[in-house]
Amino acid sequence: MWQKIEAAPADSILGLTDAFKSDTNPNKVNLGVGVYKDEQGKTPVLDCVKAAEKILLDEESSKSYLPISGDPVYGREVQKLLFGADSEVIANKRAVTAHAPGGTGALRVGADLLKKFYPKAKVWISNPTWANHKGVFATAGFELGQYAYYNPESKNVDFEAMLACLAAVPAGDIVLLHACCHNPSGVDLSDEQWRTVAALAKEKGWMAFLDFAYQGFGEGVEEDRCAVEAFAAVGVDFFVASSFSKNFGLYNERTGAITIVSQTAEEAVVAMSHLKATIRVIYSNPPAHGGLVVAKILSNDALHQQWLAELATMRERIKAMRVALVSGLAKRGVQEDFSYITSQRGMFSFSGLSDTTVQWLRENKAIYVVGGGRINLAGLTIANIDYVCDSIAEALGA
Ligand code: LMR
Repeated sequence: MWQKIEAAPADSILGLTDAFKSDTNPNKVNLGVGVYKDEQGKTPVLDCVKAAEKILLDEESSKSYLPISGDPVYGREVQKLLFGADSEVIANKRAVTAHAPGGTGALRVGADLLKKFYPKAKVWISNPTWANHKGVFATAGFELGQYAYYNPESKNVDFEAMLACLAAVPAGDIVLLHACCHNPSGVDLSDEQWRTVAALAKEKGWMAFLDFAYQGFGEGVEEDRCAVEAFAAVGVDFFVASSFSKNFGLYNERTGAITIVSQTAEEAVVAMSHLKATIRVIYSNPPAHGGLVVAKILSNDALHQQWLAELATMRERIKAMRVALVSGLAKRGVQEDFSYITSQRGMFSFSGLSDTTVQWLRENKAIYVVGGGRINLAGLTIANIDYVCDSIAEALGA
């Protein structure tokens, strides 16, 4: 079968990790894949996760199937995290949530469900966006379009251009939005801008699909939900894909969720029936462990508080690395002004490094950066920051 078939290209993000692992340079630094590292360069299991796992190990009495939509406590806790415990969406039972295998699984389930009812819709993605968005929605059979987002001149969101694009999106199309910590650019909309976009969705009749993979990595769990709140407030149908890979450090447990917000409780029941039908034919029902860990942490006051504190530590360490990178480059006489890196949010920075520089850093310094210049700030530590700053300064001729 395979003799006449060409090999597929390596994944632009996960393929970089494979190359990094086989690199023998002792100074190598992985600033590619979006995985948090602590000051020791390790990706830790959070203490709250360890504590929850101990409880689960003691409590577990069966490994029978979960419901198609996952553990019901998980679904309820995810909704509280998304909307706030006192939200009108929860009180009015307007949302349904299913545990999906990771944020990618959630996006794909949502995409397949949307394809069933909007077969001719076009999916609009931001320019730029996470590389896998294209793959997920194109593989689900959608035609893709791009809306303006990042302005390389201002190093910020080009909100006017974005609005102009979104105003032209036809009713019935789907717009994929990054709810916070835009990947790869690190620049987000303000609360007010989100309200404008949500009002536009209502006026124009397109469907918002929010990718929410970094809740708590921007300003905090509550602050980061402003996009979700804006769409909930205007009373339109919308989808949210959550990931708990980053904020709970549950990368390999594939713990995510797909939430559908509708306009009434009756409609939500219909949405759930189709969500379950969609999931059943892909993976039948979700893997239990990660969802049970998240449900245990969020439903236990002490563990919940511990999680918020650990999340804050991760967020603050990344912010400190932003400052260290900018001042490290300035100290080395790099002419370009990189100060905008400190106002970007989340794990990533669109560093402004060209593909040529990215290639040079990889070949000469074993520093791995995603094509387009996206840097994972969480890959920087006190131990490697000088090496990275020296290398970038050398690459830029400082
Ligand atoms: C990333 O963007 O690096 C992460 O979301 C990991 C991935 O799956 O690409």
